[in-house]
Amino acid sequence: MQINILAIESSCDDTSAAVIQDGEVLSNCVANQEAHRLYGGVVPEVASRAHQANIIPVVDLALKKAGIRKEELHAIGFTKGPGLIGSLMVGVSFAKGMALSLDIPLIEVHHMKAHVLAHFAEAPHPSFPFLCLTVSGGHTQIVRINNYLDMEILGQTIDDAAGEAFDKTGKILGLEYPAGPIIDQLAQQGEAKFSFSEPKIPGLDFSFSGLKTGILYFLKKQVKEQPNFLEEEMPNICASVQDRIVSILMNKLKLAVKQTGIQTVAIAGGVSANSGLRKALQQTGEELGWQTFIPKFEYCTDNAAMIGVTAYYKYLEEQFSDQGVAPVARWNI
Ligand code: KG4
Ligand code: ZN
Repeated sequence: MQINILAIESSCDDTSAAVIQDGEVLSNCVANQEAHRLYGGVVPEVASRAHQANIIPVVDLALKKAGIRKEELHAIGFTKGPGLIGSLMVGVSFAKGMALSLDIPLIEVHHMKAHVLAHFAEAPHPSFPFLCLTVSGGHTQIVRINNYLDMEILGQTIDDAAGEAFDKTGKILGLEYPAGPIIDQLAQQGEAKFSFSEPKIPGLDFSFSGLKTGILYFLKKQVKEQPNFLEEEMPNICASVQDRIVSILMNKLKLAVKQTGIQTVAIAGGVSANSGLRKALQQTGEELGWQTFIPKFEYCTDNAAMIGVTAYYKYLEEQFSDQGVAPVARWNI
């Protein structure tokens, strides 16, 4: 029998629905929310209202694209957390209602675990155990993946996430939210000619808040001396910021490989769309003999396909949730 799972993701500002058949992605639809650009960040109240408006059309589209009728579904997977509680509530309530009406199981999914398991949405798949650097707007972690449902955090950020480092620096530079993709684009036209210091954090943990402050002071000083500094040097500033964020991430990843002896290495989460990080992982992998896994762009940022893939592996283990399930803003892997 083929197992069809409808998956729903609504943890932050994107509403997404996907249909997964036996672990393969049949459809993956995302409705982005543009309104947050105006505010320089995600406004929780605006996000939950937009999820409410988007969820039914996005689910309908995902089913239509997959060519699957509601009655052919075997389970509903949804993001339980971590994320914005008002956003999560829309997806969780919708999933509960639909599972109840169809009398099929509900499967709760951890958003960050799903980012890791996005690597199983399409071949080639990493073999276990592997290391995954998960870098998003809310998280920066090095995770050891022993099996689909068995993961442990080896190191994580003690302050800002890598995506936040991009977004907050972008705000200082006067760029729109989310600034990560904009910095990435501008960096490709520049040269990393400014050097920002690397934080000295022991072990596999990360810190990015010092970098943000360092950049702010650097810019203040430069603009005082040269009022047009920002306009003239924007691509070079972006290239330098990106270069430092990527080197912080890569140095910790190298240490993790050294400590664990695991040479199968993946990246996941929104920041894994960054061209500098993708190139650095590929080059380091070639130099050091690692087997590397870089997700397709579609599976880097928030999407329901990764929720559905994770739900499929939980379905096989019969890890179902009951109707009393509620979203959680914070949740450890
Ligand atoms: O995983 P994601 O879509 O949402 C969260 O779960 O947080 O990640 C969003 C983050 C944002 O901080 C965004 O600026 C960053 O990913 N991002 C990038 C790029 N594309 C998205 N950062 C750097 N370079 C990119 N190309
Ligand atoms: Zn995410």
